[in-house]
Amino acid sequence: MNLRRAIFPGSFDPLTNGHLDIIKRSLPLFDEIIIAVLNNPEKNPMFTVEERCRMIGEILPEIKNSKCELTVDSFSGLTADFAKRKNAAAIVRGIRAVSDYEYELRMALMNRRLEPEIETVFLMAAEEYSYVSSNLMKQVFTLGGRVEGLVPALVEARMREKLK
Ligand code: PNS
Repeated sequence: MNLRRAIFPGSFDPLTNGHLDIIKRSLPLFDEIIIAVLNNPEKNPMFTVEERCRMIGEILPEIKNSKCELTVDSFSGLTADFAKRKNAAAIVRGIRAVSDYEYELRMALMNRRLEPEIETVFLMAAEEYSYVSSNLMKQVFTLGGRVEGLVPALVEARMREKLK
C-alpha cells in the first residue's frame, strides 16, 4: 500500500497556532506528515533550527491522532528536493488570506516544475488565525504585547526566556 506522506515546510520561527491549525486539518488527509523546518542562516532567526525542532517535537503529541504519524525534521536547500528525498506525495501550505495566494501560487508552480509528481495542497487557515504570522508574533511579543491564544503556551514561555 502506498503511504500518503506529506511535508509541511516553513521557517516556524516560531510555530504559531495558525501552523497548528493547518497541521490538524492535514491529519485526516495523510498517513504521515513531516513538519519540515527550513535551515536558513541568512534570516537571523529568534530560535535556532534545533530549538524550533525541539519545540515542535514537544507540541506535536498534543494534537497527534492514531491514524497519522507526525514527525519533525530540518532541511537546507530546496523544499522540492527535500520532498523528493522523503518520497512525499504532497507539500502542504496554509493560506490565510488572498494576499498569501500570489506568493504561494508562484512557489507551488516552481515546485511543480522542479518535481512534477509532487502536488502542493493548500489548506485554508481558520479565520481566527488569518492575521497570525511568526513575524507579527515576534514583533508584538518583543514590544511587550500579548500573544496568548495565538501561539502555543510552550512557545510563549520559550519566547519569554529569549527576552531575559
Ligand atoms: O512559511 P514560510 O516561512 O514562509 O516558508 C517558506 C518556505 C520555507 C516554504 C520557502 O521559503 C521555501 O520553500 N524555501 C526553501 C527554498 C526553496 O525551495 N525555494 C524555492 C521555492 S519555489
